[in-house]
Amino acid sequence: MVDIINQFLQESNQMIDLIKQLVIRSFQVSDEPDVIGLWHLCNLVVPQNDPKKDIEMKLQVQPELFLVGVISNRIISTVMSGYDGHRGWIYYLAVDPDFQKNGIGRCMFEKAEMKLRKLGCSKINLQVRNSNKSVIAFYKHIGFLDDDVLGLGKRL
Ligand SMILES: CC(C)(COP(=O)(O)OP(=O)(O)OC[C@H]1O[C@@H](n2cnc3c(N)ncnc32)[C@H](O)[C@@H]1OP(=O)(O)O)[C@@H](O)C(=O)NCCC(=O)NCCS
Repeated sequence: MVDIINQFLQESNQMIDLIKQLVIRSFQVSDEPDVIGLWHLCNLVVPQNDPKKDIEMKLQVQPELFLVGVISNRIISTVMSGYDGHRGWIYYLAVDPDFQKNGIGRCMFEKAEMKLRKLGCSKINLQVRNSNKSVIAFYKHIGFLDDDVLGLGKRL
């Protein structure tokens, strides 16, 4: 029992240490290779999306809502968001697998949420592939509910 408690305390301390070291800042152009590498590691790059183009376009619209998380000069997390005057949207929330389950995903999301709130946003939407079950569980855990809607999209 004591061992279990000690292990729990050790893991909690490690988590707090990592969060203390985490610096969340706006994306800079020089971050691009590391960010794209991270997205590949996190399986976020799919054939229909060109990450370079996604970044280029985001830098033209609300670039301040594209954030990276850095620990010891290493980019270990990202989140991209946007507000269209009605709803906020979240994309590319990613944490390096070496750092997952330490509260960093929640921190990144909360930072993006705070920025959207400041813009007057009252609801955040997001799209997750149906096959990405564990991420759906993560989002439900941090407060998202299943909107009773069918997600539709049209490529332009
Ligand atoms: C989703 C992702 C960003 C979560 O990041 P993370 O740093 O591991 O998450 P956190 O440690 O901040 O977790 C926050 C809470 O959610 C819980 N959680 C994390 N992953 C979970 C999962 N798969 N299922 C259920 N709960 C989960 C944690 O236990 C934690 O709970 P607590 O605050 O009550 O202790 C990360 O798993 C990831 O990068 N996945 C791959 C990329 C991806 O698919 N992104 C989503 C694109 S839509």
